[in-house]
This record gives sequence, structure tokens and C-alpha cells, in this order.
Amino acid sequence: MNERNTLKNSNGSLEIGGVKASDLAKNFGTPLYVFDEEHIINICNTFNNALKTYYGNGMISYASKAFCCKEIYRIINKLSLGTDVVSLGELKTALSVNFPSEKIIFHGNNKSFVELEEAIKNSVKYIVIDSELELEFINKLCEKYNKIQDVLIRVNPGVEAHTHQYIQTARTDSKFGFSTSNGDADKFIEKVVSYKNLSLKGLHCHIGSQIFEKNSFVIAVEKMTDYYLHLKNEFGLNFPVLDLGGGFGIYYSKNDPKTTLKDYEEYVKAISNALIENVKVKGLIKPYLILEPGRAIVGEAGITLYTAGSIKNITDVKKYVSIDGGLFENPRFALYQAEYTVVAADKLNNNANEKYSIAGKCCESGDLIAEDVYLPDIKSGDILAVLSTGAYNYSMASNYNRNQIPAVVMVKNGKSRVVVKGQSIDDLLRNDI
Ligand code: LLP
Repeated sequence: MNERNTLKNSNGSLEIGGVKASDLAKNFGTPLYVFDEEHIINICNTFNNALKTYYGNGMISYASKAFCCKEIYRIINKLSLGTDVVSLGELKTALSVNFPSEKIIFHGNNKSFVELEEAIKNSVKYIVIDSELELEFINKLCEKYNKIQDVLIRVNPGVEAHTHQYIQTARTDSKFGFSTSNGDADKFIEKVVSYKNLSLKGLHCHIGSQIFEKNSFVIAVEKMTDYYLHLKNEFGLNFPVLDLGGGFGIYYSKNDPKTTLKDYEEYVKAISNALIENVKVKGLIKPYLILEPGRAIVGEAGITLYTAGSIKNITDVKKYVSIDGGLFENPRFALYQAEYTVVAADKLNNNANEKYSIAGKCCESGDLIAEDVYLPDIKSGDILAVLSTGAYNYSMASNYNRNQIPAVVMVKNGKSRVVVKGQSIDDLLRNDI
């Protein structure tokens, strides 16, 4: 467990934000997504302060695909972060709580006309273009609304970060972006600058997710500034903005380094120093720097609570504890063989010497939350907590097997509040004709 003030062992019981996890389970039911608000605030402030201290001009833009709901936009807005959105749904959710559109960046590899129209009508800060088709759509919409839209282009600098192949996004064969190495990006950039309704402010790249090596980000800085220099020399372009995406790793299980606030400061420091140095050496203007952490902001802040159900001991083979959740609310094991830390919420001081696999309740053999984890003897009815579930679980949840997506509760200073209600059976049936 990566303990902190707001996530700790209190006399053998897991305590989150000053509240006993098993009390949250009792009050709100399980499965339950719990978020430690103070930790979110601390991480956001760390990113913001580090950017100010080590770089200066820029913005931390929360990648809201990691966890999107009204309350998270309210929280990050109060902390003066920007946000990036990738769909009409995320955009509308942000706007519904008056998130300032001048701090919204719109991403995605296939934005529709309708999505772009909403983004342009609402004057988002940047649209990050990822295709020829989008360019045509944006041009048409700017004519219609008589606007000039600031845009970035997503490029692929070809950095291979060490992470799961499905969450590696900047390889040359990626579906995202234009490659800087084969002339594709050059051609597209030339085309975009010829459009009078768009103002191209710079480039964006995102090298992948759950990355620990600071050097991967430094290499991205080197490659992007090399490319800015090439564009300056070839086309006389001087971009005032550089968006380096997100991807900072978090602690899931004992195989990961234990991340602290200091580590996030160090990432920003390494990127800032590298960028300041590279623009100086290459004679470029110092760009407005955008970083887009998603997982780092909400990942470790999230904890999912379950009630243990049936326990199956396959003699000489394996012991399963089945829980009342599963891949409908945490699909990451099924998708990426993601590893998690699992604890028995009220047995933290008991010896964890029984090996269990934690099975979800969906009709899929691959529906596990964890495999071969050590826990104390578990009885049906015990509350299990899976840690670091805050990123990409609620946001990737489904109604598979017509299960209901659980409620989301925020805790802070010993107080808890529901920020997203759990789905009811009526919610499930609502759209059926
Ligand atoms: N910016 C862009 C353009 C992105 O595509 C992403 C993530 C981020 C920022 C935020 O990356 P982060 O800081 O969260 O690593 N579902 C996968 C993760 C997919 C990430 C997609 N893009 C998972 O559960 O691990």
C-alpha cells in the first residue's frame, strides 16, 4: 500500500480521507467508487506549482477521460487547472458546471462535425486536429460562425515509451497524429497554415500512459524541439505553444515505484529544464507549455470497495473470492492485465498469508480484478478495497450483464458526499423501447 495521510491503516482498518472504508461501504453500499479529494487537490497543486516554479508560462490541463463527472470539473476549475476533453459528452459535462471554455482543449482522432461545432460555438482554447477531414469541418464551421479558431496539430514524434502496447500512443504506426519522420506532418502543417480561418499555434504529442522514466519525456522534448527547429528552417514557422500530453505513472502494485508528490514535481522539473535548454540551444521561442496529466491526478485518489461473496477453493489449484463488482466497473484487468493492490478493509493487521484471485461477477472467465494476491483469511461479507482505481475505471465502466454502474463518493476531512449517484434499475431500463 502506498500510504499517505489520507490513506492509511488506522488500528487495522483502512481509512480514506479520515473515514473508515468499511463505514463508507455500510453507508453507501458496495461496489462503491471512493475518491480522496484532498489527494486530488495536493496532486493538482503540486503540478501547478512545479510548472510555475520550473517553467513559468503554461497550463496543467487535466485529461478528463481518466475520470469525468461534474464534480471533478468543479474541483479542478477551483484549483485553476485547464482540462482536455475528447467527446461531446465530456465537453458538455465540463460546460454544464461553467468550466471556462478558454481553458478547454479538444482532442480525439475522429471528432465529428457536431462535436467540432459545439467546441467552436463555445470558443474552446484549442482544437487539436488529427485528420484532414477535421480540418475541412473546422474550416466550414469557422466560416459559418465567422470565427478564427486556434488549433494545434497532433504529431507523432516516434517515442517508444515502456508501457502496455494498447496505451502506447506515439509510435509511427499509431492511429493518432501525423508522423514527423516521414513527411506526413510537414505536408499537413503546410496545408493548415494556408487556411485563413484557423490559427495554428503549435503541436501536440502524447507518448503514452503509465510511464515512469523521466527520460522518455525528455526525449519527447528533444524530438519536438528538433521538429520545431526544422519547421522554422523549412517554412519559417515559429510556434508559440507546445503541448506534451500526459502519461505520468502511478503506484498500482508492488511492481511499481512508490510515487509521491515529489515525483510529480520532478517530472515537471525535468521537462521544464529540458525544454528551456533545448529552445535556447536551438534558437526557438520559449513556448507556452501544456501538460495533460490524467491518471496521475485521480488514479491513486480512487479506491473501490466491494463485499466479498462466494469463496471457492479449487482443491490444490486456486482460491477465488468473488466480489459484487467486476469488469463492468473495473475493466482494466480484462483489458490490460492491470495489477492492483487489494486489502481486506478491516483486517489490515492480520497476517496476509492466503493466496486468492479476486473474481468479478460477470459471465467471463477473464473477469478478474486481481490474480494471486495475498490476503488474510477472507469470509463472505468482508469488505475488500482495491487501491488506485481512480483513473479509467468509472470512465470505462459499462452495463455488461446489465449490471449497474456504482455510485461515486468523495471523502475529505472525515466527511463524505455522493457526487455521482449509483445507477438504478430504472436507469438501466430508461432508454429501452
Ligand atoms: N492527453 C492525451 C492526448 C491522451 O490521449 C491521454 C491519455 C492523456 C493526455 C492522459 O494520459 P495519462 O496522464 O492519464 O496517462 N485506458 C487506459 C489509458 C488510456 C490513456 C489514453 N490517453 C488505461 O486504463 O490505462
